[in-house]
Amino acid sequence: MAHNSERHIRIAIDGPASSGKGTVARLVARALGYAYVDTGAMYRCIGLACRRRGVAVTDEVGCGAIAAQANIHFEWDGEVQRVFLEGADVSQAIRRVEIGQAASDVAVLPGVRSALLDAQRALGDAGGVVMDGRDIGTVVLPEAELKIFLVASLGERARRRWAELAKRGTPQALSEVESEIEMRDAQDAGRSTAPLAQADDAVRIDSTHASPSEVASQVEGLARARLDGLVATS
Ligand code: DC
Repeated sequence: MAHNSERHIRIAIDGPASSGKGTVARLVARALGYAYVDTGAMYRCIGLACRRRGVAVTDEVGCGAIAAQANIHFEWDGEVQRVFLEGADVSQAIRRVEIGQAASDVAVLPGVRSALLDAQRALGDAGGVVMDGRDIGTVVLPEAELKIFLVASLGERARRRWAELAKRGTPQALSEVESEIEMRDAQDAGRSTAPLAQADDAVRIDSTHASPSEVASQVEGLARARLDGLVATS
């Protein structure tokens, strides 16, 4: 795989829903001046597009065609990254709970995964990148120089998601949030194609009792150590 390893590394961050991957990945990308690729947002875009076009999330051919043709791009807006689908800002729309479930549903389909895989690998090859998802360290970027598997207890992940939904003005009962997360994780880890899994060479970090900035500093430290190692051996 052609890659400029002298000054840049690829950082893969995987983990279950609401483990804090997105926030940590964004902070690390900002600190290192790297691109941030939120692959969950890509699956969410396909889930959203299928819903809008009335294509069932079980229709592999229909969803695969949507994934193959989808035009998804990311743009920084200050400290946040906005997601565009066919040129329209869908950053808010894709965060809805039912779109998270639709994303997990279409992510089971091999046709959808292979369409997004090509786009994700191309983005990963472009240079310094932090990419988060479920299969980044195992399938998308198996040669990433740094792999993180970020976990947190189910209760803590549900609490974070519950607080986020309340803040956004779409509150939901904590028990409901917890069972939705549990169901989605079971589907993501149980599918046969590229399931949620920790790569053998990933560093496992438990964020249950740590803030996103504490975890981000830890990941940044690991990244800088990898970069120093590359410079020392080049
Ligand atoms: O990270 P997230 O919650 O935004 O991801 C939404 C769904 O997309 C997740 O439940 C499973 C799927 N997904 C995936 O299968 N592979 C990835 N690399 C990223 C997300």
